[in-house]
Amino acid sequence: MDDDQKNGADGKGTTKPWGGRFREEQAPLFEKLNASIPFDHVLAPYDVKGSIVHVRMLARIGVLSDAERDQILGGLQEIEREVVEGRFVWSLEDEDIHMAVERRLVELVGPVGGKVHTGRSRNDQVALDLHLYLRDAVAGHRAGILALMEVLLHQARVHERTIFPGYTHLQRAQPVVFAHHLLAHLFAFQRECERFAAWEELSWMPLGAGALAGVNYPLDREWVAAELGFSRVAPNAMDAVAARDAAFHYLALAASCGLQLSRLAEELVLWSSQEFGFVELPESWTSGSSIMPQKRNPDAAELVRAKSAAFLARLQGLGCLLKGLPLAYNKDLQEDKLYVFRTREDLDLCLAAMAEMLAGLTVDQTRCRQAAEGGYAQATDVADYLVRKGLAFREAHRLAGRLVALLAAEGRSFSQVTLDELKSLSPLFDEEYYSLVDLEKVVAAKVSPGGTAPERVKEQIRLAEVALERLQGGRSGQ
Ligand code: ARG
Repeated sequence: MDDDQKNGADGKGTTKPWGGRFREEQAPLFEKLNASIPFDHVLAPYDVKGSIVHVRMLARIGVLSDAERDQILGGLQEIEREVVEGRFVWSLEDEDIHMAVERRLVELVGPVGGKVHTGRSRNDQVALDLHLYLRDAVAGHRAGILALMEVLLHQARVHERTIFPGYTHLQRAQPVVFAHHLLAHLFAFQRECERFAAWEELSWMPLGAGALAGVNYPLDREWVAAELGFSRVAPNAMDAVAARDAAFHYLALAASCGLQLSRLAEELVLWSSQEFGFVELPESWTSGSSIMPQKRNPDAAELVRAKSAAFLARLQGLGCLLKGLPLAYNKDLQEDKLYVFRTREDLDLCLAAMAEMLAGLTVDQTRCRQAAEGGYAQATDVADYLVRKGLAFREAHRLAGRLVALLAAEGRSFSQVTLDELKSLSPLFDEEYYSLVDLEKVVAAKVSPGGTAPERVKEQIRLAEVALERLQGGRSGQ
């Protein structure tokens, strides 16, 4: 009996599809270590989609007959339905999603199903599946970011005139309108969205690389790329199966977007505390304490903040995995999916949660105004006023600082000082001072482009509207 006859069918070797040369069965623990099916089953729709296009291409170039093509396509379409309807049965023995689909295909259409793998390797197949998956993930994140931007824009419109303390070093710095602060976040998210769009422009189609060297068939890779919506084909077969920079870049973008979310979440936590008391989160987005009946905790915002740590960790995880890997395919690459899948899920969740939380946010305008007033946030404007009266800015800064010290010692605000007291500090003070420390005036004076003056904020709102329209158009065009 030769080796081939001993394998598989008579129970002495492994029955794996690649088992021709093996005499021993796979060790059960190795089977467990080796199997990606417990997580890569989410690639099923992409795997089937890629296989459908591959089979159609094989028929176009004459490698499969039309009858074979139609038989295989019939099976793949049935598998597609089984996956969507949750009827597809996953088994550890299949090892991975690619072999699971092929096994089922053969069950459904007979030995002709085995022809689906002509001119293809799991190496280029998995690279394609991952690219298709990432492309969907990116489209979803872009939609999620745009929805969040819409909410920020809505709240900015509502709070175009709401006086709010602006901070540096977490010390009250200068008064702004709340819209100004919200728009700061909005424009940061716009950049995240644009970065994700740039990711899409860089994506390319790996199928047709085979294991690493190309295959023995004159594949029409351009046709496959066009059918699958890629504008480019990987120009080198080895690069196509070895590269995971698309996944790494994706995780970097997710990490960056997570940082933006986290900073916004942190502010919601601060602002909704009793110490700040600037905003109230919707009750449905907070939770109670098991022991302290009075508590209403911003858990949702805290968890969004926490998830950003995982985004960064997964970026680092994949970086560590890739570092030092020789070309071309190595089984290490199987684990890239663990980082990518969780990130997609979490980022979608965080973006949607943040949008809903912000939509229900209410602002305590009195508290915000008191905070802006109480922090002597008009001090720069007092200094500028003295500059207009002829003082050098440094001297004006010193005098305004002395005024703050005088008032702070007695807990008085800028408007609660007499003209005599002012004149004793400097004869340059006059009645005009009182209109100038009015918070609306201070805000209205910030007329430089990008500033917090009402007309400048209106301009920013307009810019945001235009950006949203443009980015939404780009998305629906896909
Ligand atoms: N499950 C594998 C992965 O996710 C598919 C590729 C397997 N290729 C191989 N040469 N063993 O990477």
